[in-house]
Amino acid sequence: MRRRQLLLAAAAGGAGILWGLRATNRDTGGGHSAYFQTLSNALDKAGLARPTLVIDRQKLLANANVLHQHLAGRYDYRVVAKSLPSLPLLETVMSHTDTRRLMVFHQPFLNLIASALPDTDVLLGKPMPVAAAARFYQQHKTAQFDARHQLQWLVDSPARVMQYAELGRQRQELMLINLELDVGLHRGGIKDEAQLIAALDIIEQEPFLQFSGFMGYDPHVSKNPRLLGGPEGAFSSVQTVYQNFVTIAERRLQRSLSGLTLNAAGSPTYQRYNGAQVATELSAGSALVKPTDFDLDTLADHQPAAFIATPVLKALPVAEVPGIEKLAALQSWFNPNSRQAFFIYGGYWKAKPESPPGLSLHPLYGRSTNQEMLTGSSRVTLQPDDWVFLRPMQSEQVFLQFGDIAVYDDGEIVDSWPVFTHS
Ligand SMILES: Cc1ncc(COP(=O)(O)O)c(C=O)c1O
Repeated sequence: MRRRQLLLAAAAGGAGILWGLRATNRDTGGGHSAYFQTLSNALDKAGLARPTLVIDRQKLLANANVLHQHLAGRYDYRVVAKSLPSLPLLETVMSHTDTRRLMVFHQPFLNLIASALPDTDVLLGKPMPVAAAARFYQQHKTAQFDARHQLQWLVDSPARVMQYAELGRQRQELMLINLELDVGLHRGGIKDEAQLIAALDIIEQEPFLQFSGFMGYDPHVSKNPRLLGGPEGAFSSVQTVYQNFVTIAERRLQRSLSGLTLNAAGSPTYQRYNGAQVATELSAGSALVKPTDFDLDTLADHQPAAFIATPVLKALPVAEVPGIEKLAALQSWFNPNSRQAFFIYGGYWKAKPESPPGLSLHPLYGRSTNQEMLTGSSRVTLQPDDWVFLRPMQSEQVFLQFGDIAVYDDGEIVDSWPVFTHS
């Protein structure tokens, strides 16, 4: 008798927990907002019917203005090309922010930029193997881009300075060397006084190398836990470290670094720079299109400007998983947002469903780059050929996966921007 009572109580408790969990799964489904409905109409009107990366030009320009206003002439702006990997996109951002400075991260894109945008000033964003640097020179044919004055190689160690010195001597050509500083990110780079002095001494002795400045990237700042001083503490430490390297270099070289490139920031921190820091220029790219990884307090005045648009191929009334079809009803009772299944054209991008609201991945159905299943509640009214929108989590790789970017402006697709290619 007591055992039966116990079992009944356990069953009632279990049911209670299930009901409680179910109650946390609110129906979040709905239809497209007016913005995404208008964007859908524009894509249809343009005859598009495949996964497409869309950039909203008005939002992009608004972000460019926000950035330009924050810098307020106190720092030069260097556009991070890997995060905006398309020539017309870079041109648009450069002309709205009044800069010709680019940060580049990939040898084929470096050659592309040197030939297509020969009036730019380029700083590498990571140290290239010296063989990649040699390859740049072999392939570089555009005389208007004078690498001796317009290109700064990023170098992270005395050993790599020696490799570049050797390349400079072989080519009998001046190479500008910018030193990567470890300002707290711990992704390599010059870490202490001894390394800095060793690197500077080699550069000074080499006839074909010239020291052009420092790069100190600081995205770790925004992730610093409160317990360790929070972002403010980490930012202040970055500044102390950076200033210290500048002081050491000036002492060793017996000259001021003014006029050199003292690069800093990145999208997460650029708004923390207020004119009081030693940096002369700030880099940012992602903030211009704001993928979801950049939904940060420090970028609250930037808006998402890039979306993946993809057609619904199939809309099914139940989301069934092979082998456990019978659980579909239980699953949709438990979570109303998994009632219907929508198979989209493509998928498995580094991106999150954005519109219509309430779409998500099924926890058990596998992922697919071919036709991915998203589920939604009965309030989602998507039909085959309707558009689903996702927001990229980052831009650099995601933007390269769709061919030309569809440029959206005021209710119309107005342009098509090719993205970088590797060949
Ligand atoms: C050296 C360096 N500077 C700046 C950035 C900032 O790029 P974004 O503004 O797109 O985050 C990056 C990004 O990886 C970087 O590696």
